[in-house]
Amino acid sequence: MILKIRRPDDFHVHLRDGAMLRQVARHTASQFARALVMPNVPPIDTGPQAERLKSEIFQHVSPSSFTPLMAIRLTAKTTPETIQEAKRCGVVAAKVYPQGVTTGSHGGVTIDQLQQMGAVFATMQDVGMVLCWHGEFPGPGWLSAEQRMLPEIRKVVDDFPRLKQVLEHISTREGVEWVRRCPDTVAGTITVHHLFLTLDDLGGRGQFGRGGMLQPHYFYAPIAKEDSDRQTLTEAAIEPSGKFFLGTDSAPHPIDRKFNVDAGCCAAGVFSAPVAMAALATKFEALNALDRLEDFTSAHGARFYGLPLNEGSMVLEKQVWVVPGTVAGMVPFLAGEELGWKVADVEIASR
Ligand code: NCD
Ligand code: ZN
Repeated sequence: MILKIRRPDDFHVHLRDGAMLRQVARHTASQFARALVMPNVPPIDTGPQAERLKSEIFQHVSPSSFTPLMAIRLTAKTTPETIQEAKRCGVVAAKVYPQGVTTGSHGGVTIDQLQQMGAVFATMQDVGMVLCWHGEFPGPGWLSAEQRMLPEIRKVVDDFPRLKQVLEHISTREGVEWVRRCPDTVAGTITVHHLFLTLDDLGGRGQFGRGGMLQPHYFYAPIAKEDSDRQTLTEAAIEPSGKFFLGTDSAPHPIDRKFNVDAGCCAAGVFSAPVAMAALATKFEALNALDRLEDFTSAHGARFYGLPLNEGSMVLEKQVWVVPGTVAGMVPFLAGEELGWKVADVEIASR
């Protein structure tokens, strides 16, 4: 059995820079026509920095087959002029990282600083730049951090009714229901890993975890939650509202950051780009919703961002595929697991 869909977009990816970018860029470009490149590592705070990273990406992938969509990070130093300049440089989104909640967020903003950013949000609204949220409240209370951030975001939704906003990598039922209640200017991205895993898997006691051993490759932010959260996310991924779309949050880390023996710590992030589409087809088939896959990966996000739908197609084949143990020297998401689908072909429409 074959499934042919419009080429997909990934509205949340970490491509990094330097050697890591060289290793991972092609894995995103081989699956996705476009991807929104997140600005945390390396920190991208201005339009010119985004332009430089974009040209570095084009050293590794061809502009004829892949379009990086660039984002900047909002910091206490961001001004309305920063936004205007970024817009002129083609930046499509700016992202709030609350301070200290994830990789590379030490330069992020505090909740107090957020209250001072009205002029920046107003400029984004005027120029038509999307506001992306890492939606976790800083400080203690990890498991409820997403819920506690929602009222903070809601203030910005109410104050800036024409500003498009995205709750990134939703991880809870409350997050999904909150997006549903918000006006159509608000959408949410859903990752592949949040559709598959729960906290039990991270702790080695779920369907994918093993033998009670902690699974560093299932450690990411926002951390996996309960099965009821995961189920609500699957319902959101297949709903026709157009409010939910794919952002893989593929976030590669070198093996010595996932298993830092000296420091005894593990970086948050899962490298899912190489398996995202095969895993999604497997998941959507299990949900009896293969006919909804294309909307989730190739239509809802583009429409929300006001982008044309991609030309060209991706062909997926129903076939057992065991995810390789390593890709680009790293352990990909679901390494060693059996999936029911495989990416068979990508046709890039001539432009
Ligand atoms: C991301 C990273 O490594 O850059 N990690 C993650 O666990 N998702 C950062 C992020 O998106 O929070
Ligand atoms: Zn991310």
